Amino acid sequence: MNRVLRTFAITLAAVVTASLLFTPMVVAQDDPLIARAQALFEPIPTTGYAELDDNPYTEAKSELGRMLWFDPRLSASWAISCNSCHNLGTGGVDLQSKSIGHDWQRGGRNSPTMLNAVYNLAQFWDGRAADLEEQAMGPVQDSLEMNNTPENAVATLKSMPGYVEAFEAAFPGEADPVTFENMAKAIEVFEATLLTPNAPFDLYMKGDADAINAEEREGFELFVNKGCVSCHMGINIGGTGYFPFGVIERPDAFILPEDDLGRYQVTNVEADKYAFKSPSLRNIELTPPYFHSGSIWSLEDAVRIMGDAQLGATLTDDDVVKITAFLRTLTGDQPVVEFPILPEITESTPLPTGMTMP
Ligand code: HEC
Ligand code: HEC
Repeated sequence: MNRVLRTFAITLAAVVTASLLFTPMVVAQDDPLIARAQALFEPIPTTGYAELDDNPYTEAKSELGRMLWFDPRLSASWAISCNSCHNLGTGGVDLQSKSIGHDWQRGGRNSPTMLNAVYNLAQFWDGRAADLEEQAMGPVQDSLEMNNTPENAVATLKSMPGYVEAFEAAFPGEADPVTFENMAKAIEVFEATLLTPNAPFDLYMKGDADAINAEEREGFELFVNKGCVSCHMGINIGGTGYFPFGVIERPDAFILPEDDLGRYQVTNVEADKYAFKSPSLRNIELTPPYFHSGSIWSLEDAVRIMGDAQLGATLTDDDVVKITAFLRTLTGDQPVVEFPILPEITESTPLPTGMTMP
């Protein structure tokens, strides 16, 4: 071994030793399953927010994002806010099969949770928005959701001095800070604070062998050994890729409607027909009904359907009960969000339009 190589080898050994010594995770000697959990998943950080690459966290941005999140005046009708369909009091969803949007219209898909959404590889069931910033511009303009235009949304925000000040504080030094893009950036930063740390399973992963009970532990083993983990892994226990719904057996049209081609609508690639983003299973017990069709209300039924459709392994009733028990250990501390007092309108605020009585 030449000197350079030897120095390298010694350095490497030192680094490995150091990383073993200082590794923050504790592997409980009596529970080898913890090491397995650590290799497959990651706990949600307890830092209060996730760092975004191109949109650094500031308190001013997060506060502005919180105001925008709850403000129905971003919708044409002043009746609908982001929180209408992603209610932070109910796990970040609306508990509707399909959300009710502008003028009482129902959308085409079930509303996904906002909790931990920052960790998904892309946004929407079909991944058509790359990140939360791009995503946030969608619903404001969607005719089935908030039915607004960027121009009208910006005019509305500019008409209220309270908002102009909040945008100036969030985007200091910008000549014209009240823009549609900055609105989306502030919402993205706020959404990156919607994390749910300290789920029992996360505590287990961090080395607390007693954080989950024997049944939940068996459920976790089944989840891994039956193959659920091949599509629901990583920090969000899902949200890492697109997979056809019905790999083995196509569910019936009530669960998998024929007219929603999923990821194919974004890529036009044949193999993506009926493929959807594998959803995060965190807080899953709080967010029925399940699937992009919002067709199934019972978590146990959803697990059974996954076994048939994705694994071709019929799960016994006992397996289903145990896997479901494990899934319930994925519920973390819900973010405590103070409801903002919103700026008052002025004479120049464009008035609401287009919400007829049913
Ligand atoms: C009328 C109901 C409705 C409103 C209002 C609404 N959303 Fe949504 N949202 C949905 C539905 C339904 C989807 C899934 C659509 C799809 O995948 O095609 C979704 C998807 C999302 C996603 C993707 C999550 C994921 O895991 O893929 C994010 C993020 C999001 N919405 C944020 C927002 C924000 C921010 C606002 C306010 C500016 C908002 N939504 C307003 C219903 C709504
Ligand atoms: C081949 C990939 C794959 C496998 C294996 C798989 N899933 Fe899924 N899972 C998905 C996809 C994709 C969806 C979204 C389906 C849809 O709504 O279109 C999903 C949806 C779900 C949902 C509903 C989530 C929601 O928010 O509506 C649950 C619960 C779930 N899976 C649990 C499981 C369990 C438990 C197993 C093992 C028995 C499993 N999955 C195996 C890919 C997979």
